[in-house]
Amino acid sequence: MAYKLVLLPGDGTGPEVMREAVKVLDAVEAAFGVRFDKVPFPIGGQYYLETGAEWPDGTFESCKAADAILLGAVGHPDAVLPNGELAGIGVLFGLRFGLDLYANVRPTKLYVNVPHKVHDGFKQVWDVGKVDFVIVRENTEGLYTPTRGFLTRGGIDELAVDSRVITRKGAQRVARFAFELAKTREGAPVDGKRRVTCVDKSNVTAGCKLFRKVYDEVATGYPDIARDYAYIDAFCQWIVRAPEFYDVAVTSNMFGDIATDLAAVLQGGMGMAAGGNIGDAHAMFEPIHGSAPKHAGKDVVNPIAIVLATQMMLDWLGRRKGDKSLREAAVAIESAVESVLKEGKHVTYDVGGSAKCSEAGTAIAKAVTTIAKKR
Ligand code: IPM
Ligand code: MG
Repeated sequence: MAYKLVLLPGDGTGPEVMREAVKVLDAVEAAFGVRFDKVPFPIGGQYYLETGAEWPDGTFESCKAADAILLGAVGHPDAVLPNGELAGIGVLFGLRFGLDLYANVRPTKLYVNVPHKVHDGFKQVWDVGKVDFVIVRENTEGLYTPTRGFLTRGGIDELAVDSRVITRKGAQRVARFAFELAKTREGAPVDGKRRVTCVDKSNVTAGCKLFRKVYDEVATGYPDIARDYAYIDAFCQWIVRAPEFYDVAVTSNMFGDIATDLAAVLQGGMGMAAGGNIGDAHAMFEPIHGSAPKHAGKDVVNPIAIVLATQMMLDWLGRRKGDKSLREAAVAIESAVESVLKEGKHVTYDVGGSAKCSEAGTAIAKAVTTIAKKR
């Protein structure tokens, strides 16, 4: 049986990195005895400019029927909807909300030979192993609910309101997700302890008070996992000062959006940062760098983010389907990335090399094949 994978290359550098992900998927098919039915759809700002729609009819239904979804990036500088929003974002939210992908899972891991991107990062490589945590961002409520609008009087925008929605259900399921994830990990680098940090602003907002309360209720079901609390402002300080303390952190939607960009700096920048939008029945995986129009068409961006998104996708699908081969393939992909980084010859500019995106992708796909043969 072939797994149906919907591929949404999208805009800017999206199609370039998607090509590299496909090389890796092809290598996995050849080496691990699994089959993928890869179904691509054109989506995003470019598609909007050509057709007036953000995605073709039937794309959502295809995504819903797929085993997993891989997205490149959305966003074209010229493609703006009549309401002023960037075309393509509707695809992202269409999937997150439409498929109820409530956990946005963003690992922050610093690999061997990768300089972090804190000021002057190229002069410093942190000890590998110091940065290895995951931020689980709530993905279907918070400040992202459409409980917002303008009050316009006499044609003038007078007032704008964004109401943040935090529900018991939303907090509960994302907290559970975080604790379940912690069970599968080896704990924080500093002490090997499994720990879930609740990141909020419960000293001020009502929604965060509820979020923390529900987190505490959920935590009682996981007595072996340490509880930890951080206000979002302090969390932003501590992940830079002492990233090794963190294992899994769970937070509401907008705080997670902001904190994960900051966290990406600790792992070598957006070229290394992957994420999964995961629900109970569906999941979509993506590099979190966006379409990066200034780099588009130059074959220079780092494909590792989408390759790691592919790795997350196969691990998720393998667990869901009880398919050991897929999980082994996921492990091989991560090892392949590590070996290419270690060798240092086929890495892109952002991690200190001069290889093209396509060269880096080919090297990783080859490494997957080599690693699979050694099994
Ligand atoms: C992200 C992005 C999106 C978000 C944008 C593109 C709407 O920043 O995935 O983090 O805010 O969720
Ligand atoms: Mg973001």
